[in-house]
Amino acid sequence: MLNQKKIDELIRRAGELPPMPQVAEKALALIRNPDSSMADIADVLALDQAMAGLVLRWVNSPYYGLVQAVSSVRQAVVYLGQNTIQSLILAASIAAYMDRPVPGYGLDRGELWKHAVGVAAGARLATAQYGAVVAEEAYHAGLLCDIGKLAMDTLLAGVNTSGVEWQDRSFSELEADYFGVDHATLGAQMARRWHLPETLVEVIACHHRPAEASEQNALLTAAVHVADAAMMMLGIGIGRDGLQYPFDSTAIERLAWTEADFRDLVERVGPLVAEAETFLQLRRSHR
Ligand SMILES: [Fe+2]
Repeated sequence: MLNQKKIDELIRRAGELPPMPQVAEKALALIRNPDSSMADIADVLALDQAMAGLVLRWVNSPYYGLVQAVSSVRQAVVYLGQNTIQSLILAASIAAYMDRPVPGYGLDRGELWKHAVGVAAGARLATAQYGAVVAEEAYHAGLLCDIGKLAMDTLLAGVNTSGVEWQDRSFSELEADYFGVDHATLGAQMARRWHLPETLVEVIACHHRPAEASEQNALLTAAVHVADAAMMMLGIGIGRDGLQYPFDSTAIERLAWTEADFRDLVERVGPLVAEAETFLQLRRSHR
């Protein structure tokens, strides 16, 4: 059982984490509130006009695959639906939080976000047949599943993660050995502190161990797990811990997938990540 005091202490120790930009805070608030309105979305975009422009450019990019170009956020909502626009705003604003090097994991600037956005897109594809609400939840969970790495990175500052003892075991196990918790647990605790829905908290906590998710969240957790595995296979944003996570086949079973379905996901998610990278370049050039 987790020791809450220990977790609190770890989060305190990771307290030097750079503050989340206001726009990202607002984007998370959108997700907290299932009744967010168009006005709330406009509110978020008003905080950062450059981002509003970028969001529109991204809406019109192959990442979303719209047939017709859209020129306003309102119009984009009509085409994509409010849930998807919220996801897009979260991805854009979380980029401001995640677009930094994560040296403890051997990740260069931008890689954490690129990985996150790929897992998100993959989790959405994996759940598309269950409807827009489920698919967007999967997207949010995918985006945030490794958020604990940001906090863990601060803790790893005094540890030589390129040392030989970090080579052949999963980072999750090593994190747990060193700190008593892994990045999934730490990330879930961060999500709870942000008052995100419990579903997201649990999916983040179980993204490397989908068999441990409750029945209610098993599908979402399975989707994030397979999408994460797809990104690892593609070698995108995996850093030093990349290939060291065991794949849990219960995720494939939960989705009622064959191996061909997984291969198909790997193929489809690659181009989406390439497009997401373009977005990151655009965002940087607007700063
Ligand atoms: Fe992870």
